[in-house]
Parts: sequence; structure tokens; C-alpha cells
Amino acid sequence: EKGGYEHFMLKEIFEQPKSIQDTLRGRLLVNEGIIKMAGIWDHLERINKAERIIIIACGTSWHAGLIGEYLIEEFARIPVEVEYASEFRYRNPIITNKDVVIAISQSGETADTMAAIKLAKEKGAFIYGICNVVDSSISRYSDAGSYTHAGPEIGVASTKAFTAQLTILSLIALKLGKHNGNLSNAEFMNLITELDNIPKKVEDVLNSTHEYVKKISKDFVSATNFLYLGRGFNFPAALEGALKLKEISYIHAEGYPAAEMKHGPIALIDENMPIVIIAPKKGHYDKIVSNVQEIKARKGKVIAVVNYGDEQVSSMADYVIEIPETSECFSPIVASIPLQLMAYYIAVYRGANVDQPRNLAKSVTVE
Ligand code: M6R
Repeated sequence: EKGGYEHFMLKEIFEQPKSIQDTLRGRLLVNEGIIKMAGIWDHLERINKAERIIIIACGTSWHAGLIGEYLIEEFARIPVEVEYASEFRYRNPIITNKDVVIAISQSGETADTMAAIKLAKEKGAFIYGICNVVDSSISRYSDAGSYTHAGPEIGVASTKAFTAQLTILSLIALKLGKHNGNLSNAEFMNLITELDNIPKKVEDVLNSTHEYVKKISKDFVSATNFLYLGRGFNFPAALEGALKLKEISYIHAEGYPAAEMKHGPIALIDENMPIVIIAPKKGHYDKIVSNVQEIKARKGKVIAVVNYGDEQVSSMADYVIEIPETSECFSPIVASIPLQLMAYYIAVYRGANVDQPRNLAKSVTVE
């Protein structure tokens, strides 16, 4: 059942080229230059005319939602807010019938997310569900939606469901942007061509980084803290990297936008602090270079995720993980892969139960 892998989590990490492809299949039709999504198409007017899109989720799905915000605002130019379901449901939020709510949930059973969309629906919002489990409560309650076709995710730590959520959110943002005229045909074609390349790039990154990440993970078994930093689209990827590490290895980790470092976390940096920094060429690279200089001046241990052939960040970093270049908006998908592997191996070396970490449940059906 684990397909020869030691844990479901590792199997699911390696399934990602396929799960992303499965999520794109039948939807991304590059040769015809279209994205086919019945859930969006049937309600295009309602969604594109929304005064606001509110994304509601918990945990990893909330991180996907943050990237969804960047994607939708960038390509469709519709204002987006991202809310933790547990906060939203208890704070008397302002919701109108001009709002569209996107609920993201792997299981489709998360109690807080379910309660939040019920509240939003009562106030007249249109609910769009992005779930992985077919016929789950959230998918049934939604007015429309799209399934992520990641296949069953058994490991408590979400991996392939997360990248499938990013895939769906990319498709939605691009489709909305195309139909509301914010994306030119040329821009749309460039982006969908690149999205089509993502499964292959994910496969490449799995092959090229696996052994190296496995090896370097040994150096961190005794770490007590980690920082994860990224900017732009990769800021939520940093949050997700930190969540993966803490939930399965029990090492305290925090994700931050790299520029926020100087507003507090920089005080933590010394030679004992490993700092994972996501620094692809496209996306605030020069700014990241200065962040790495600031970290090195304080002797932090830098684990840099960079593109092939990178020089500036690599020359300063203690560990260099190379990933293929892609558009900035899709880079969180590719950059997340080595971070998943690193969390996995550190946890394995610490003897932790990776598939069923202590105190955690796969789907949180109580609040
Ligand atoms: O099933 P859902 O996507 O609604 O679950 C939300 C969170 O409980 C979930 O992402 C959790 O944070 C995972 N353990 C993360 O790996």
C-alpha cells in the first residue's frame, strides 16, 4: 500500500508530478489555448463581478489560500482576503451577497471551515469549494467548486494536496483573468504553457534534490529552532515549510516574510539558528540577497533554495538546494518539494512517527 516507500508521506511527496498532472488533466488545454473548468464557467459572471473574494481555510490549506490571494489579485485583479476559518466564524464578519467565498479543504470535513461557509452562505455569499475528497461535506455544501485530483492523502502532513490546491488556484486565477480581460492572450498563453511544464519540473526537482536533502537533513537532527523566509509568492511557501517541519519533527519553526526579519526575528539569529531561505531568480532576488547578507553577518546557518546556476545567494549560503526556474507565481509549487523532503528526513532521523505525528488528526472534525 505504501508502494515500496517507508512512509505514506514519502510516497505522497513522490506522487506529486502525477497528482499535479491529474489536477490539470482535462482542464488545461494548452493546444487549444483554454482552461476548462465547469465550476468557474457556469458562474463566471458571479465570480468575476464579485466585490471581493474571501478565501477560508485552516492549516496547510490556508497557506495555499494565501498564495491564491497573490494569484487572483495578480491575474484577475479582484480583491482577495484570506481568513482562518476559526477566526472568521466567531468575529461577526461583514459579508454580503456580492462576496464570493472560496473554501479550501483537503478532507472537506474540517469543522471550522464548514461552520465558516455556513455563516457566509446565510449572509448571501456564493460558496466555491476546493476539496480533495469527493462528495465530502464541504464539497456538497458549496454552490460550485473544483476537486483537486491528488488522490487519497494518508500522511497527516499535507503534501500532494497542497500542491494540487496551488494548481487549482492557478487555473482559477488565470481563467478569471483571461475572461475579465486583465490578461492579454499572449500573457495567458505564456502562463499556461509554463503551468503545463510544472509536473515535469516537480519530477526534476524530486530527482535532483532527494539524495542531497536526505544527506544534509542529518545535520539538523539536534536543531531546536528553524526560521523559514521567503518573499512574494514564496512567503506563504515559507510558512508551509515551517509547518511541515514542526508538525512531524517537533522542532519549533517559524515562517516569515524575509523583510519582516528585521522587525523582530533577527534577534534570534546566531550560529545555532538554521534559516531556510527561498530565493529563486524571479521575484525580489536582490532583496533576498541583502537578507542573506544580514543573516550571514550574524552567523546564521543558511539553507538556500535557489535556481540552477545561482551565484550570489549560493556563494553566501551554507547549504544550496537547486531547483528549476519557473514563473514567480508557480515557484512555490517547485520550491515546496525540497522543503517537504527536508521536514520528512529530519523527522525520520529523529525517530518520529511521520505519518501519524503526536496530537494530530488527519481531519479536524471538532473545533
Ligand atoms: O482537510 P483540510 O485541508 O481542511 O485540513 C486543514 C488542516 O487541518 C491541515 O492542512 C493541517 O494543517 C495539516 N496537518 C497540515 O499538514
